[in-house]
Amino acid sequence: MARILVTGGTGYIGSHTVVELMQQGYDVIIVDNLSNSNQAVLDGIAAIVGTCPEFVQADCCDSAAMDDVFTRYSDIVSVIHFAASKAVNESVEQPLKYYRNNVMSLITVLETMRKHAITNIVFSSSCTVYGQPDAQYLPVDETAPLQKALSPYGNTKQINEDIIRDTVYADKSLRATILRYFNPIGAHPSALIGELPNGVPQNLLPYVTQTAIGLRAELKIFGNDYNTPDGSCIRDYIYVVDLAKAHVKAVQRMLSGDADEPVELFNLGTGCGLSVLEIVNTFMQVTGVKVPYQIVGRREGDIEQVWAKADKANHILGWKADTPIEQVLMSAWQWEKKLRSNN
Ligand code: UD1
Repeated sequence: MARILVTGGTGYIGSHTVVELMQQGYDVIIVDNLSNSNQAVLDGIAAIVGTCPEFVQADCCDSAAMDDVFTRYSDIVSVIHFAASKAVNESVEQPLKYYRNNVMSLITVLETMRKHAITNIVFSSSCTVYGQPDAQYLPVDETAPLQKALSPYGNTKQINEDIIRDTVYADKSLRATILRYFNPIGAHPSALIGELPNGVPQNLLPYVTQTAIGLRAELKIFGNDYNTPDGSCIRDYIYVVDLAKAHVKAVQRMLSGDADEPVELFNLGTGCGLSVLEIVNTFMQVTGVKVPYQIVGRREGDIEQVWAKADKANHILGWKADTPIEQVLMSAWQWEKKLRSNN
């Protein structure tokens, strides 16, 4: 069976994708430097699928280590490149760390792929490349104009998309799929893997679940004076397991030679926007747990509203993010409870 190299495979989206790949019969080799994840994630994956994925602890910027991986695993047919730093605030404070980690790792992966004649790559990008789309572009599809990134993190996504396009243009044997994620949330239904935020969570859902379990005193909701129905920001929250499944579809499409263009681009979202208040209220309803919150001022750099038009992925990949939000929020809560019961 074909083997997929998953960089960043012990991370949040990576680990869920490894599970889906293995359940579809793919062999996997994970490369991760564990800078923002834990090797114990491998046990969670093994408990779900029944076998442990192959794992190499290495940095994707390390050419020699990557070369070694491709040499040792000569059955690799495609790469899914997740490995990247992703904290927006940190990227503003330490831009060079972000440009090095995120851009150098992609360059190294592509160089090593070319050396070993591996021709397929899936790249993990973000809806952050659209910034705040004008009203006429909402919901946002793949043709909406990109906007200047608000952070070095966002800029690395744009730069990396360009690097992929230029490299594929120059090397006609290469194929790439760029996936622009909206807001991934939730955890595997087994509660054996999920999101493991480092320190104080910056993202909404881990903050909600940590507040619900009593680890944080209260959630701060950043702004209720936006031009939205309830005044709080709107996002497209996508279940991480649905998102993971889209990666399997993307790999299958490239491997079967079905791709229409050398670089294909897909927005991955539900097509439905939810406000921060809707998320918090629905979480309280489905779990029956109170989440104390306070409305505070806006967070700098936040986008008012963005959600996806996911028709292209729906039709072409034959994929849909259709897990009900209640079930998704419940999975996040089960995972939080599981995490704390272990500690
Ligand atoms: C953020 C990044 C985005 C990145 C994504 C992945 C920004 C501007 N965008 O998306 O580039 O790809 O994370 O991690 O930082 N909220 C609260 N209270 C909280 C936390 C969040 O009210 O304690 C609100 C935010 O104001 C926002 C929504 O919840 O309206 C979602 O926030 P978050 O989970 O941080 O995601 P994004 O900001 O959409």
